[in-house]
Amino acid sequence: MKVIWSDELSLGIPQMDEQHQRWIDILNGFYDAIERGDREEAISHLFKGVEEYTSFHFSAEEQFMADIGYPDLENHRKIHQSLIDQVHSARERYGQGDRKAARELAAFVLSWLYTHIAKTDKKYSEYYASRAK
Ligand SMILES: [Fe+2]
Repeated sequence: MKVIWSDELSLGIPQMDEQHQRWIDILNGFYDAIERGDREEAISHLFKGVEEYTSFHFSAEEQFMADIGYPDLENHRKIHQSLIDQVHSARERYGQGDRKAARELAAFVLSWLYTHIAKTDKKYSEYYASRAK
């Protein structure tokens, strides 16, 4: 299922909101390509894009949390790492011929992402807001 951006997902931090929107676009595009049954090269190209953007965004987000002195950074970093590991292993499985891996990953990451932004990321944005007062 695709994810539609809504205010519920806004952290009120423009840089992070923009990256989350971009990430959702990339994931939705990946999901669409799989649903359309695009060719394998196209899917594996998009798979690579998902993997790269996930790493890029997590690094930027972790840097932001470090900059504001967010106390729960280590825990948040572990949660990110476990998603990166799953994306990575799904790409390996896909590369080894497991065609279900892409579809499963797209569905999983999209639902993961929604909950992660709405619950886990929300915590650092609340910390940021309380600190800015
Ligand atoms: Fe996060």
